[in-house]
Amino acid sequence: MPRLLTSLPSQPSTVAALDTDEPTIASQTEWFKHHDNRHPVLVAMRAGEVVGWASLSAWSAKRGYDGTAEASVYVSPDYHNSGIGTKLLQALIERARVIGLHSVIARISSTNETSLRLTRRCGFSDVGTMKESGFKFGGYVDVVMLQLILDNAT
Ligand SMILES: CC(C)(COP(=O)(O)OP(=O)(O)OC[C@H]1O[C@@H](n2cnc3c(N)ncnc32)[C@H](O)[C@@H]1OP(=O)(O)O)[C@@H](O)C(=O)NCCC(=O)NCCS
Repeated sequence: MPRLLTSLPSQPSTVAALDTDEPTIASQTEWFKHHDNRHPVLVAMRAGEVVGWASLSAWSAKRGYDGTAEASVYVSPDYHNSGIGTKLLQALIERARVIGLHSVIARISSTNETSLRLTRRCGFSDVGTMKESGFKFGGYVDVVMLQLILDNAT
């Protein structure tokens, strides 16, 4: 389990997510502490090993935003392109409905075409692009914001 705790949730080596620090047990434990029944972490298992995860995180500490959460999905590279990411995001959306959330947001680097396609396929619509709002590997990163309003989702 420690290997999974330190290797799965953060991605310091790609611009897919804007983590820049190598994860540690302490940082990942802190990450888990910010998740609860309203902000769950789902995992995908293959042969007893965690190969992917999806989470809903609080969008803002301000109570007026309680009906909105941010979705994240990660699948271990060895298991890409076999439908796990899609299943995780679909399960996460279903969980968000059960929890009673109104809206789910995703922020995705504009160059991350696989993730953009996956997120749009699951019903999210583009809100807009936040130009140069991230910075990694010495360069600014444009970030696309997408949203799914659950009341209107099919
Ligand atoms: C984005 C990410 C979660 C996608 O995970 P994944 O498990 O590869 O996703 P899926 O397999 O469901 O879909 C990926 C592609 O495989 C295709 N696919 C799914 N099942 C397939 C199968 N059985 N055979 C062939 N292709 C398949 C999908 O149609 C999709 O094609 P597309 O890219 O042309 O749209 C994964 O690439 C990842 O973890 N990236 C790094 C982190 C990241 O970017 N996270 C998102 C930002 S929060």
